[in-house]
Amino acid sequence: MITRRTVLKAGLAASAVAGASSTLSGCGLDGGGPVNSTESSAGRIQNSTATLPQPFTLPFRVPDVLAPVRQDATTDYYEITQRAADVTILPDTTTQVWGYEGTFPGPTIVSRRGRRVIVRHRNELPVPTVVHLHGGVTAPEHDGFPADLLLPEGWDSPEEHNSDSGHNNHDDDHDTSGYAGVGGVAQVQRDYVYELDQPAATLWYHDHRMDFTGPQVWRGLAGFHLHHDDEEQALGLPTGERDVPLMITDRTFAKDGSMPYPSLDPTLREQHGVTDDFHSGVLGDCILVNGVPWPLMEVAAVRYRFRILNASNARRYRLRLEDGPDFIQVGSDGGLLNAPLTHKELDISQAERFDVVVDLSEHSVGDEITLVNDHGDDGTDLVMRFVVTRTENDDSSVPDRLADLEQLSEDDAVVEREFVFERTSEDGTMMWTVNGEPWTPDSIAARPVHGAVEKWRIRAQNVEHPFHVHLAPFQVLGRDGNNPGDFDSGWKDTVNLDNGAYVDILVRFEGFRGVYVFHCHNLEHEDMMMMANFEVV
Ligand code: C2O
Ligand code: CU
Ligand code: CU
Repeated sequence: MITRRTVLKAGLAASAVAGASSTLSGCGLDGGGPVNSTESSAGRIQNSTATLPQPFTLPFRVPDVLAPVRQDATTDYYEITQRAADVTILPDTTTQVWGYEGTFPGPTIVSRRGRRVIVRHRNELPVPTVVHLHGGVTAPEHDGFPADLLLPEGWDSPEEHNSDSGHNNHDDDHDTSGYAGVGGVAQVQRDYVYELDQPAATLWYHDHRMDFTGPQVWRGLAGFHLHHDDEEQALGLPTGERDVPLMITDRTFAKDGSMPYPSLDPTLREQHGVTDDFHSGVLGDCILVNGVPWPLMEVAAVRYRFRILNASNARRYRLRLEDGPDFIQVGSDGGLLNAPLTHKELDISQAERFDVVVDLSEHSVGDEITLVNDHGDDGTDLVMRFVVTRTENDDSSVPDRLADLEQLSEDDAVVEREFVFERTSEDGTMMWTVNGEPWTPDSIAARPVHGAVEKWRIRAQNVEHPFHVHLAPFQVLGRDGNNPGDFDSGWKDTVNLDNGAYVDILVRFEGFRGVYVFHCHNLEHEDMMMMANFEVV
């Protein structure tokens, strides 16, 4: 049987030929040609041909909260249909998105520790999908292992596909004949079970289909999952309408309203990958918050809690509130911090979350406060605007003590490992790899023992790489031999790495045994194989 790796190399060779230009596929001493990087993000900007709206003219909105279809003593049951839909993003035109419930972002799931959540996903899209709850401590068969496809109606099952000889070897992308999965392939519908025995945190769910995560998230397959617990609810932080998720993404719009993505195969059915110019990442020139370009939010002069998520494929942001207050960080990816931290600016890489309180009580009616991106330029330097339209009572607070986190120490680590995230060139084609190896579903890069803490050193080469590990939360021990950075506090599941940098993290493998992935959360790098498996034993 042809291994996926052999097939993969053939596929990449084909993609290098198919690309419009070959700036990255030529041979070079460091394993390829130049990498693209702009506005502090690996990648290349696709410019919109549509007329984009004037910033701060479209009304802000929050994604709908999904109601359970049923509840019993232990569990809340939800149903989500993944489907294409024409939605209004730009005024005067429609955009086709692929969305959970046909919306971008998808509906928000709200859960509480102590109750299980089961989400029945139905795939009515024309391609396979995979659902991953990012930040969830989830059983391996429900975690969205990239090969655990949820196939649409009429898509060959792996067995049928095996006997289908009408395909070239190089398009293995929907060929699961070499299937080495964790939770199995399902047809049309499946249940994802989330125990959620974990602290309150800002989680999100998104597509994780093998080789196609970048384009499928770009089309809209991402939503919030806000998880609460009793301790967090007792703190007195802003709640209800004042607990606001902000999903920041960048996108590109064509004249017809569509959101183009430089796929080699725009149907996303066969060949994966992007044209050569975009191997380093796909950047848009339009910044959206909760699916709205540069929205305007009317606010009261009170405290707000914002759950900031960078759901962009490749873009990093440096956020600041122009003419506004500092951010008071109360939580990180994994939940609350011990104590609030104040930031003038917030560096946020792909998939990271910052749970912040913004205190607008010193502001007057009429004040305008702009959330800007100091890494951006020419429109990408703007994110959204707040305008104070009213005063209201506010009995919220930000206590000095938020939680009581265990502090891991280097002495806790029983194993040390190093993973280098870098570009590799093989036979004149380029891949993003972990320790030189492209991802395959069936190789295991580490076998941590359940309950153990390990020290991992993650190195980034060629460009920056946001590192993410499934299941296992971590604490940052240091960077480049120094102390942790300003944005490394608390429990993390994703951490930013600049080009040439390394970070030491203490990871605790707990909750479940089985196979999971860790990867770069630049989604183009991820699709281009910058991922590896580990097995908790
Ligand atoms: Cu945001 Cu592998 O995940
Ligand atoms: Cu994840
Ligand atoms: Cu990367």
